[in-house]
Amino acid sequence: MKIQGLDIADISNEFGTPLYIYDADKIVSQVANLKKAFEGTDLKIKYACKALTNISIIRLLQKNGVGVDAVSINEARTAMLAGVRGEDINFTPSSADFSEIQEGVELKLSVNLDSLPALEKFGKEYGAGYPCGVRLNPHIMAGGNIKISTGHVNSKFGISIQQLPQIKDIIKKYNITLQGLHIHTGSEIVETDVFMQMAEIFFGIAKDFPALKFIDFGGGFKVAYKKEDKTTDMPAIGSRLAEKFSAFEKETGRHLQLWIEPGKYIVSESGYLVAKTTVVKETPALTFVGVNSGLNHLIRPMMYNSYHEIVNVSNPTGPLKTYTVVGNICETDTFGSDRELNEVREGDLLIFKNAGAYGYSMASNYNSRQRPAEVLVINGKAKLIRDRDKLEDLLRGQYDVIN
Ligand code: LLP
Repeated sequence: MKIQGLDIADISNEFGTPLYIYDADKIVSQVANLKKAFEGTDLKIKYACKALTNISIIRLLQKNGVGVDAVSINEARTAMLAGVRGEDINFTPSSADFSEIQEGVELKLSVNLDSLPALEKFGKEYGAGYPCGVRLNPHIMAGGNIKISTGHVNSKFGISIQQLPQIKDIIKKYNITLQGLHIHTGSEIVETDVFMQMAEIFFGIAKDFPALKFIDFGGGFKVAYKKEDKTTDMPAIGSRLAEKFSAFEKETGRHLQLWIEPGKYIVSESGYLVAKTTVVKETPALTFVGVNSGLNHLIRPMMYNSYHEIVNVSNPTGPLKTYTVVGNICETDTFGSDRELNEVREGDLLIFKNAGAYGYSMASNYNSRQRPAEVLVINGKAKLIRDRDKLEDLLRGQYDVIN
C-alpha cells in the first residue's frame, strides 16, 4: 500500500514501528471538500485539534485557511506556536477553572462559556470589555454512541436551551457582548436533520442578540470506517444551511458567519497506525495475531467499540484467514475480532486505518511502553513530526524519594 507513491512498508522500515503515518494530501482534500460544500456561506473552519494535536498538522491546516478549536489552554498555546493567531482560535473548554478562561482572554482567543456560573464570572470580570460566546445544550440526542454524544439533556456540556432566560439576564446585567452561539451535539452524526434542528434553535434566538457575529455548529461529521458506512452528506448540510443564513440576512439585514469545528472529518482518514506482528498464536478457540502496539496507542476499539480496518501490507496476496488481532498491553486490548486478513506471519506489518483522529492524541505510556513516532507524508516525502518516546521521556519528572 502506498501514500503519495511511497510504500507504507518502506516508510515503516525507515522510521520503525509502531508508527503513525499521516497523508497531508488527504487532510488538504478534506478541507477543500468542506469549503466546496459550504460555498454559499461565510464559512470559518476551526479544526478541533484534540483529534490530532501536532504542530505540523495544525500548521498545514493554518496554511489552508483553517483556524483551531481548542478545549484547553495548552491546545490553544500549541496552536499559537504553530502560527495560528489567537483571534482564529475558538476556545470552548468544559468545566474549566476560571483562570484558564482568563488566560484565554489574555491570549485574545474567541471564548465560549459552557455554564451559567462561568458566564456570570465572565460578566463580572469583563463586562462589555471583552466579547464572548455561549455553548448551548440543545437537548438533541445525536452521535455514534452515548460516550460521544454531547448535546442530550443528560450531557454535562453547554447551557441548556431551557435556561435561555437566565443567559439573557446575565448578559443584560453585565452588558456582555454576545458574539457567538455554539452547539456541538456529538461525534459521528450521520443525519443532516440534526444540523437543521440546530439551525432552527440558533435562528430562533439569533434576533435576540444584536452583537452576534457567528453561529458555530461544532463538529461531528461522520466519515466511513467500514466501506459500507453511511457518512454525513456535507453538500446537503452546506446548501441547506446556506439557505437559512441568507434568509436570516434578508429578513434582518444582519450578516452572520458560519463556523464548524471538525476533527474526525479532517484527519481520521489521513492516518494509519502501523504495527509489526510479534506473534501468531493458535489456541483451541482462535488464531490471535499479536502486534507491537496496543490500546495505549489506539484506544478507540476498546473505548468506543470502533471498527478500524486492518490490512496486512507485508503479504497482500496471501490466502485469507480469520484472526483476532490483539495488542501487547496487559489488558484485553483487541483491535479487531474475526477479521479476514491475508495470511499473517511473524514480522508482517499490519496497518490500522482511520487512525488519524483520536489515535495518537489519546495515546498513553500505560505499561511503560513508548508512544509511537509520527510521520507526515507531504509533497511526496515522509517527514518525522514527532519522535518515538524514549525511556527518559517516561521517567521525566519522577523523583526517587526513598533512600
Ligand atoms: N467541537 C467540540 C467542542 C468537541 O468537543 C469536539 C469533539 C469536536 C468539535 C470535534 O468532533 P469531531 O468532528 O471530531 O467528531 N475520542 C472520541 C471523540 C470525542 C470527541 C470529543 N469532542 C472518539 O475517538 O470517537
